[in-house]
Amino acid sequence: MKKIFFALPGNEKLTLQLIQKEKGEQGQVEIRRFPDDETYIRILSDVRDYNVFLVCTLHKPDNKIVPLFFLAKTAKEMGAKSVCLIAPYLAYMRQDTIFKLGEGVTSTYFASFISSFVNRLITIDPHLHRRSSLSEIYTIPTKMRHAAALISLYIKNNIKKPLLIGPDMESEQWVSEVAKNANAPYIILTKIRHGDRNVTVSIPQVEQYNDHTPVLVDDIISTGRTLIETISHLKIAGMQPPICIGVHAVFAGNAYQEILKSGAKEVITCNTILHQSNKIDISDLLMS
Ligand code: R5P
Repeated sequence: MKKIFFALPGNEKLTLQLIQKEKGEQGQVEIRRFPDDETYIRILSDVRDYNVFLVCTLHKPDNKIVPLFFLAKTAKEMGAKSVCLIAPYLAYMRQDTIFKLGEGVTSTYFASFISSFVNRLITIDPHLHRRSSLSEIYTIPTKMRHAAALISLYIKNNIKKPLLIGPDMESEQWVSEVAKNANAPYIILTKIRHGDRNVTVSIPQVEQYNDHTPVLVDDIISTGRTLIETISHLKIAGMQPPICIGVHAVFAGNAYQEILKSGAKEVITCNTILHQSNKIDISDLLMS
C-alpha cells in the first residue's frame, strides 16, 4: 500500500515521525494566502493511487479547516485512492448538547463536514462526554486511540507516591484507567462550569494522602481554570505543589503560564498539539 503524508502547517514534526515509522513518502504541498487572504493550495507530489494522510491537529480549528478541505478535495481530484485525516486533537467535541436556547450542537455539524471530504479519521482521546463513540456523529470510519497507558508509564517512571486527581466526573473514565496502570490511588472531584473562564470545583478530601504527590489528570487543558481551581484547594489542604498532566495542550491565551503561576510544580502534556510542555510521545498510537 503506497502511503504519502502531508503536514498541514505546524504539524511537520509529528508528520516526519509518522513517515519514519510507516516508511511512507513525504508529500510536498504549497499552502499560502492570496493577497486578499483567501487560501491557495497546490499539491506538488504525485498522489494517484496513493493512500494520502493529512496530518492536522485541530486546536484553533477555524483557520485550518479551509486548507484541509481544499487539500483533501484536490488529492481526490488528482486520483488519490483514499484520504485519511490524522487529527491528534479533534476540535468542537465539547459543544455536544444545547446548553442555552439558540445554540447548535456544533460537534455534530463539524463531524458531518469532516465526514463529507475525508474517507477516514484517526484521533487521540476525543472528548466523549455525552456520546459513547465517534460513530454517533461521524459517518466515516474513525479510529481513536487512548493516551492513558503512556500517561501511566510516565507517572510510574517519574513521580514518587502519586495521588491522581480527576477534576470532574467526566475525567473518571481516563483517570481511573491511568491510576490502575500506575498502581496509584485516585479521587474524582465534581465541577460546575458557570462560564468559559469561570468554574468551581469541589474540595478534595485528601487528608489521608498528605505524603503523596498530587497529580491532576485531564484530557483537555484549555483556559486552565479547571486546574487552577483545583490547585487552589490543594494549597489550602496543605498538599505539595501538584503536577498537572493533560492529553491536549490547547492552552487558550496565557493558560500555561497562569497554571504555573497558580502553584503547579510542573505541567506535562502529550504531543497531540505541539507545545513546550510535551513530554509524552503519542506518535506510536496513531498508526497502530
Ligand atoms: C471538560 O469538559 C474537560 O474534560 C476539561 O476539564 C476542560 O476542557 C478544561 O477546560 P479549562 O482548561 O478551560 O478549564
